[in-house]
Formats: sequence, structure tokens, C-alpha cells
Amino acid sequence: MNAASPSPASAAFLSSAPAGSALQAQGLRFGYGSDQPAIFSEVSLQVRPREIVALLGGSGCGKSTLLRVLAGLEHAPAGEVRFLGEPLRSPHPRAALVFQQASLLPWLDVRGNVRFGLDFAHQPKADRKALDARVAQAIEAVGLAGREHTFPSQLSGGMAQRVALARALAREPALLFADEPFSALDAITRAEMQTVLVELVHRWHAATLLVTHDIDEAVLVADRILLMGRDAHDQPAGIVREWTVDIPRPRDAHPAATTALRLEILAALRALRSAPDAAAQPAGTS
Ligand SMILES: Nc1ncnc2c1ncn2[C@@H]1O[C@H](COP(=O)(O)OP(=O)(O)OP(=O)(O)O)[C@@H](O)[C@H]1O
Ligand SMILES: [Mg+2]
Repeated sequence: MNAASPSPASAAFLSSAPAGSALQAQGLRFGYGSDQPAIFSEVSLQVRPREIVALLGGSGCGKSTLLRVLAGLEHAPAGEVRFLGEPLRSPHPRAALVFQQASLLPWLDVRGNVRFGLDFAHQPKADRKALDARVAQAIEAVGLAGREHTFPSQLSGGMAQRVALARALAREPALLFADEPFSALDAITRAEMQTVLVELVHRWHAATLLVTHDIDEAVLVADRILLMGRDAHDQPAGIVREWTVDIPRPRDAHPAATTALRLEILAALRALRSAPDAAAQPAGTS
């Protein structure tokens, strides 16, 4: 079985992208302030409908910054982001975000938190009954049916992240941006939430860009893994490797394949830190 097919992360593969890409970015460069060095440059990537793409890289390499640019929260002075085929200039109502902290509103119960903001002006119009049904469905999907009237102070960390996921799903997103959503959770809850995420993405058909620095999480969850890095001189190296993961799910039932891929990614990360050119191999050379 070819568990992982490496290919160069270049603009070239964008030309063969299906017309229906959920997210496409080309030639992105970004720095915090025009007089500051670039955090990344020449970044091109795509997320296809229903696909889970993990963006992996060491701490400080620019993953969260890239996610913010892709989500329309920051503007890149060079390059373009297209969401559902249209240029993206500000956050899109059909894109939802989940972060490391659930950031629930303490004065609202589970239902209130999931419902919050759904009828704001920038959200697509829907009648009250339809919104209530979406909220109920999202709460059920994350396994919190019966907890609608529980307040955040009474929730465990894992349950709070389930609420954050439900809040995102209730927006019926075409794309879910998740920035280390489970890294504050204990190992068992994290594994459980990774399974929940995969099930939800498959059931709700929401493409997902998952930012993580956890190689295991990327290998267990993603359809594709993009490796981002800064080089040995601390210069932005952008996305240097890409793996297509075709290990059957559940992945932990295939320890040999997952371990092989994990080791390959670890080696690429190490090579990136010691010698930037060694990590960026052309297609089919590893
Ligand atoms: N608001 C900001 N203003 C200035 N610099 C910033 C800002 N946010 C992040 N940075 C810098 O940008 C670089 C990339 O940060 P970013 O948070 O994107 O990295 P990351 O890969 O997500 O790291 P981590 O894995 O630790 O979350 C870092 O050098 C960071 O100090
Ligand atoms: Mg980050």
C-alpha cells in the first residue's frame, strides 16, 4: 500500500485543482507590518470539498498566521485567497473557526452558545425555526443532546470543545478552520475528539484545515498533510512538503503504516531545521 505519496508543494498542482475547491491560495506573502520581515512567502495551497488538510510545522513557523490570512482575518499584501471560487477579502459566513480555547460565553448555556450570532446581519438569512433546528442538530452531532441547558462552568474541557465544534457546525460551514483545537485537552479526550472531528467532517461535508504541531494528530486525522517551516537561518520557508495519506480509517488499526508516515514526517521536520534544502525534495524521490 502506498500510504503516503509525497509531492512538491508548489503552485503547479493548483492548475489541476477541481473547479469546486473549497479554498485556494496562491503566492501568499505576509508580515506583521510593512517594515517587518515576512512570516511566510510564496505559499500556495488548496483544500478540496470534504477534505481534511493538516497544516503541520514547528512552533512559531507561521501556521496560525497563515490560517488567519486564509480565513480573511488578516490581509496578505501579495497573493490571492479564493473561497468557494470567489476572491476572499474578509471572513466568509460559510467558513467557521475553532481555536485551542473554546471561548464560550459564560452567561449563556450550551444551546445559547451554539445559537449565538447565527442571526447576525452578516449571516445568511434563515427563519427562526430553521435556525433552532440547525442548533439542535449540531448539538446532537457532537454528542451533547440533553446538555442544552448546561452552563460553561459546568463543562469539562472536552465538552467545551464539543460546544465550540457545534457552534461552528451550526453555521453549516463549507470550510472549518481549526487552530490546534485539541491541544489543551488530555491525551484520552484529545484522541476521542480527533475521532469526533473526522466523523463530523464526513457527516457534515465540511472541508477542514487543521493547524497542528502534533504529527500523530495529523497522521490520524488528515487526508493530506502540508509541512510548513522556517529554515535554519530562521527565514520563512513556506510549505515545503505535502503527503497524501491513504491509510484506511480508523488509522490506529494500521500501526505499521501510521508509524512509517510519522517517522517520515519527523525526518522531514528535522531536515528542515538543520538544512532547509534537504527537506524540500522533488516528487517521487522519497
Ligand atoms: N500579532 C502579531 N504581531 C507581530 N508578530 C506576530 C503576531 N502574531 C504572531 N507573530 C509572530 O509571527 C510568527 C509566527 O507566529 P504564529 O503564531 O503564526 O506561529 P505558529 O506556527 O502558529 O506557532 P505555534 O505552533 O506556537 O502556535 C512568530 O514569530 C510570532 O512571534
Ligand atoms: Mg499557532
